[in-house]
Amino acid sequence: MLFDTIWGLFSSDLAIDLGTANTLMIKKGHGIVLREPSVVAIHSENKQVLAVGSEAKKMLGRTPGNIVATRPMKDGVIANFEVCEAMIRYFIQKVHHRRTMVRPRVVIAVPSGITQVEKRAVRDASISAGVREVFLVEEPMAAAIGVELPISEASGNMILDIGGGTTEVAVISLSGVVYSRSVRVAGDEMDEAILSYIKRKYNLLIGERTAERIKMTIGSAFPLEKEQTMEIKGRDLMTGIPKTLVINDTEIREALSEPISAVVETVKIALERTPPELAADIVDKGIILAGGGSMLQGLDSLLRSETSLPIILAEDPLSAVVMGAGKALENLALLRKVSI
Ligand SMILES: Nc1ncnc2c1ncn2[C@@H]1O[C@H](COP(=O)(O)OP(=O)(O)OP(=O)(O)O)[C@@H](O)[C@H]1O
Ligand SMILES: [Mg+2]
Repeated sequence: MLFDTIWGLFSSDLAIDLGTANTLMIKKGHGIVLREPSVVAIHSENKQVLAVGSEAKKMLGRTPGNIVATRPMKDGVIANFEVCEAMIRYFIQKVHHRRTMVRPRVVIAVPSGITQVEKRAVRDASISAGVREVFLVEEPMAAAIGVELPISEASGNMILDIGGGTTEVAVISLSGVVYSRSVRVAGDEMDEAILSYIKRKYNLLIGERTAERIKMTIGSAFPLEKEQTMEIKGRDLMTGIPKTLVINDTEIREALSEPISAVVETVKIALERTPPELAADIVDKGIILAGGGSMLQGLDSLLRSETSLPIILAEDPLSAVVMGAGKALENLALLRKVSI
């Protein structure tokens, strides 16, 4: 025990949630050491990395011609291999205070719907970023461990993780995923839905970051008690001139209706396909929500009214996956059971 603690202090091993929107890292024995947007700014000609993480996110949509701020992950998987590798390398060096000799072992959470090719890409990008050994854990399993569900018991647990790129629902029992379903509709699609709604209705072009801010501020999935409004700025497509207007929560709820119904549908299908004994457990225990997208106002109320089941929002939805991956990193027996 003491040895483990001391070893933990020197170890460079990491648990990583390589998300479409955010990357989080836990260093063994140190807890969460990194929480940054998965964004990289690169020079378009010499391909030099100019900024990574929150610095780069500020640049999204605001770069001059020779700088591109990109998101290397899309729909939960690697969309741009080189940029993703550069990002992982940068983050690993950052948490190890730029000591160059570290070759950590890492546990990485990946979407449950991921293909062999996509798995290979995550492994290869990590290895070329300097990682010694890679263990992959399915995101819903990591999230379930992260929120401390009794995953090893012979009893059904349902977890719904709504991230930036993917929504995943899984039923877990006896340390295994009994059923899982992953759809590539999550926070990003919600932002796009808001963006195109405002373009359609007001002929106003807003940026991705503005769309995300609208979603987080007045976005909702269920009617709110009190009307919420927000002033937004964009470019009028008729005149070409910047313009300000005020929108309300009802409009944004309408804008979000499509991606939200896709999420609800995913949950309903999962419930239909869950074996009866496990479904009975879920009636008692309900569905646990994790991931940043689950923080949308009223999403829990909507799911409660659509399924009549108890809906429990994780205490820290953004950290659930990395917390679970971190627990697997600390517990070899658990890691052996849950890694894929
Ligand atoms: N308060 C909020 N209301 C609505 N959405 C939110 C809120 N806070 C964060 N989000 C959304 O959560 C998403 C990010 O969540 P998270 O960090 O769990 O995703 P990720 O793990 O990076 O993505 P994925 O798991 O799909 O790869 C973003 O789309 C963000 O806009
Ligand atoms: Mg995630």
